[in-house]
Amino acid sequence: MISVRNLDLVIAGRRIISGLDLDIADGRSVALIGASGSGKTTLLNVLSLILRPTAGDLTIDGERLERPSDRRRQRFWRERAAFVLQNYGLIDDETAGYNVMLSDPPLRKHRATTNPAVLDALDRVGLRERVASPVAQLSGGEQQRVGIARALFKNAEYVFADEPTASLDAENRARVAELLLQPGDRARTVVVATHDLELARRCDEIVDLTPSGANATESDAPA
Ligand SMILES: Nc1ncnc2c1ncn2[C@@H]1O[C@H](COP(=O)(O)OP(=O)(O)OP(=O)(O)O)[C@@H](O)[C@H]1O
Ligand SMILES: [Mg+2]
Repeated sequence: MISVRNLDLVIAGRRIISGLDLDIADGRSVALIGASGSGKTTLLNVLSLILRPTAGDLTIDGERLERPSDRRRQRFWRERAAFVLQNYGLIDDETAGYNVMLSDPPLRKHRATTNPAVLDALDRVGLRERVASPVAQLSGGEQQRVGIARALFKNAEYVFADEPTASLDAENRARVAELLLQPGDRARTVVVATHDLELARRCDEIVDLTPSGANATESDAPA
């Protein structure tokens, strides 16, 4: 359970987030929506312990984490979180398979292109046959799906996804929404920053970061 109370974030003298209250229960999905520059990525980074808030409370399972030590937040990232990054966060000259298994260091690199779990994760995003392709040889949308496959492969408790469908066609957007949001074999809490209102509508809750629209519900979301 992630809880924030009266959260402020000021960057370079500009107030990006102001007085935000939000509870994200285990197994729930929340979409952060709002215009470009409204603070979606910034809030995602605060909730995932990448950025420290300027003021306010942030707890995960009751533990205060506004100012976590580096060790503490590294443990959270390693053990409990998976990320889908806006710029995909892939290693360009490595294979799709290797990029998928990066979140599981015990796996040996030379096994990346034959490992059944890696192949299964790529299969779910429709890229099984590209397992041995260097990421640099994939299209933007294919790279985005490798990033999704990596998060699915990690099977983490928390998934933080920044514009996970931005480069995809309609069919793949729907596929990725379903993969991210379907309940897996464990409760998965998903926080997604997105302009994709179809994806947002599939989430349990929508938080609109447009300055006048804080905490809007689904029916208030701009069309
Ligand atoms: N490191 C930084 N230094 C200065 N300003 C920043 C920094 N990071 C974010 N900002 C500012 O914070 C605001 C919110 O940025 P953010 O990236 O969270 O927006 P966003 O809603 O994710 O936008 P987009 O839809 O374009 O991804 C922007 O005005 C941005 O310029
Ligand atoms: Mg963003």
